[in-house]
Amino acid sequence: MINTVGVIGLGTMGAGIVEVFAKAGLSVIAVDGSAELAERGKGFLEKSLGRAVSKGKLDEAARDEIVGRVSFGDDLAAMKDADLVIEAVPERLEIKESIFTTLDGIVREDCVLATNTSSLSITEIARATKVPSRVIGMHFFNPAPVQPLVEVIRSVMSDETLVEQVRELAERLGKKPVVVGDRAGFVANALLVSYLARSIRAYESGLASRSDIDAAMAAGVGLPMGPLTLCDLVGLDVIHEVCGVLYNATGDPSVASPSILRQLVTAGRLGRKSGHGFYTYDGVGSGTVV
Ligand code: 3HC
Repeated sequence: MINTVGVIGLGTMGAGIVEVFAKAGLSVIAVDGSAELAERGKGFLEKSLGRAVSKGKLDEAARDEIVGRVSFGDDLAAMKDADLVIEAVPERLEIKESIFTTLDGIVREDCVLATNTSSLSITEIARATKVPSRVIGMHFFNPAPVQPLVEVIRSVMSDETLVEQVRELAERLGKKPVVVGDRAGFVANALLVSYLARSIRAYESGLASRSDIDAAMAAGVGLPMGPLTLCDLVGLDVIHEVCGVLYNATGDPSVASPSILRQLVTAGRLGRKSGHGFYTYDGVGSGTVV
């Protein structure tokens, strides 16, 4: 039974994943690379729960209980007590491999090692550990507290009981799990990122303004938001990295990172989280376009 989970990396996705676990009643060990980043992660959780309190969807006692289930810190050694550890660090294979190699020497033998990678190979990440059969993908979608989907990604080395255990855990979290194979971008991102890259190219080529491209897809096709707004929500750095992984895996030019995307990332315009992306926001992390 998974009761204590570790979350490594407390950026947009990691902080959202912490919230999902803590709301479902699990104890959470939340770790990032420095005390400052851990504190920022705590701030994300408190802000998100604060919004629910101000809307009257959560009372203050319940909020305090949820926050009380999470310990924040900057030392991976805290993962020794975890039943499952999930990492949500930047989308770079070498960073993820190094974390998994370190975790190997810290966690219990029966601890599940999960990655929230958007597109990298679970098999390659698993190879960085001594027990690759306990490594699995558990891919949440942004915003993690809201989006129901969790892709449970098995590698050819994953233990079958592990797949079932993680699928059941996702259901306990109130999520909709789908079990998928280890292919670049899995199911959702393989399809979505190709659409996003094409939308960015449509903007780049001057086909229409960014708001008209977004309106065409939101108002015309019934999507909750247009593609350029969605890129800003997910993070332009994340989209850029996933494009790179998909392009390397498939050679399909339609998924290569578009020039304007690369320029925005180089300029530090990463979307909502930095206050600028395709649009400009009235505060870092805010959702209001100015
Ligand atoms: N954290 C927590 N809750 C959030 C949130 C966040 N970041 N953003 C919105 N919410 C909550 C709001 O509090 C609100 O909750 P309530 O209904 O209980 O009051 C609810 O979500 C709806 O939010 P809003 O009323 O502010 O706005 P919208 O109705 O426009 O919904 C949205 C916002 C949920 C982001 C919606 O526009 C949406 O679903 N957009 C598409 C998102 C999407 O496609 N995500 C997948 C991206 S791909 C991905 O993540 C994969 C990765 O690997 C790249």
